[in-house]
Amino acid sequence: MTKKLCIKTYGCQMNVYDSARMADVLAPLGYAPVDGPEDADMVILNTCHIREKAAEKVFSELGRLRHEKARKEEAGGRMVLAVAGCVAQAEGAEILRRAPYVDIVLGPHTYHRLPEMVARAARVAPSRPGAGLLDTEFPVEPKFDHLPSPSSDGTGSAFLSIQEGCDKFCTFCVVPYTRGAEYSRPPSDVLDEARILAGGGVREITLIGQNVNAWHGEPTKGGGGDWGLGGLIREVAAIEGIERIRYTTSHPADMDEDLIAAHRDVPQLMPFLHLPVQSGSDRILAAMNRRHTADDYRALAEKLRIARPDLALSSDFIVGFPGETDADFEETLSLVRDVGFIQAYSFKYSPRPGTPAAMMEGQVPEPVMAERLATLQEILGRQQDAFNRACVGRVLPVLFDRPGRHPGQLVGRSPYMQPVHADGVASRYGEVVDLKIAEALPNSLSGVPADGAEAAAGGVSA
Ligand code: SAH
Ligand code: SF4
Ligand code: F3S
Repeated sequence: MTKKLCIKTYGCQMNVYDSARMADVLAPLGYAPVDGPEDADMVILNTCHIREKAAEKVFSELGRLRHEKARKEEAGGRMVLAVAGCVAQAEGAEILRRAPYVDIVLGPHTYHRLPEMVARAARVAPSRPGAGLLDTEFPVEPKFDHLPSPSSDGTGSAFLSIQEGCDKFCTFCVVPYTRGAEYSRPPSDVLDEARILAGGGVREITLIGQNVNAWHGEPTKGGGGDWGLGGLIREVAAIEGIERIRYTTSHPADMDEDLIAAHRDVPQLMPFLHLPVQSGSDRILAAMNRRHTADDYRALAEKLRIARPDLALSSDFIVGFPGETDADFEETLSLVRDVGFIQAYSFKYSPRPGTPAAMMEGQVPEPVMAERLATLQEILGRQQDAFNRACVGRVLPVLFDRPGRHPGQLVGRSPYMQPVHADGVASRYGEVVDLKIAEALPNSLSGVPADGAEAAAGGVSA
């Protein structure tokens, strides 16, 4: 009998990937994904610890799930409740203490052991408080060696995790603590997984990692040298069926020459790069331990555009980092004007316990942060709008990966990650189709198939 599995995912692409892999490891036990927690046999919260009050939000979600779990038990059933991801890693023991009805707490490094944990949890009497399992170590054997082959959902686009953890220790960030030390998957494993995905119909692969361009392949026994992400991208591009390659999230300090050259040489590598800069002030960048200056970033953007003239950048920004003055913030605005971003995420600085910045002097008052954020977002929003409007009339290849709101409509992504919808294209799900962009809406574009448009025009003139 199939059992209902509900996974709620928060945070970054790594968690999206991890959730998919948790579903894969649980499938042989008879678990099939469902959307909501109602009547589920297992619920997993895959959590993120990057924002303020992340743990509190998990506890309130758990409070709601507790009622679902009780209802299921009153009806004679059983709901296994698990907390995974970065809050679990950081605050696992606290979760079991404050929410004793949680059955399993597991970190991002141990989900390959989930079937075993589920079996153990099932042997414990239901709702026996304090019987929850905690598994948040950083095991020596990498979990990737224990995972089944990925299942593709047939949407034509998939994430492939190639790197985990981070050794950069930006002073505001929890990731080095929740995800541990930097680890690169061996090239042969990555390429095997890419081939399986391509064989299953995937056309676009996004290579992911917390610090993805720190990826490096070990020198091989046969004498092959150390290789970096640029080399890996070339190999992925050689796999039959792969039409698009992306990678995220990158650190500016790890953009080496070969990776930049890959943007010139590999046509499948999309002309869009998410390259977080965080601040435009050298003083703040140094306090953040970002290992580059604002001018390094400007120079890098320039080099990338020389390699690939149609390349566009997106970024992450933090406003109100401790000690940030009006002058520092002005420098961020000046970098934004100089570089130009077609998309960006910007955040108010939020102190994360245990990180060096949380203890720094000069914490910026909330109203100042709010004002700076509004100013920054205004400028970034204008840059995004201008780019979207400039796309009208252009032909952009779009990979359709979602149904649209109306019958016959599909939604896909342009090379620049803009959502684009088109009507009357239902048969082209999972394909890359050239669309002539007709309209720029606030957060998306609409288009018509360029080939269809030509055919129709031809029909009229014939
Ligand atoms: N690995 C990526 C980012 C990981 S976190 C990188 O190196 O850039 C995603 C984004 O969240 C960061 O880029 C940063 O802008 C934001 N962020 C992380 N910690 C934060 C904090 N303490 N306060 C505010 N924003 C934060
Ligand atoms: Fe966090 Fe910095 Fe590592 Fe990115 S590079 S994950 S911001 S420590
Ligand atoms: Fe969040 Fe963990 Fe990703 S803290 S951003 S889910 S690495």
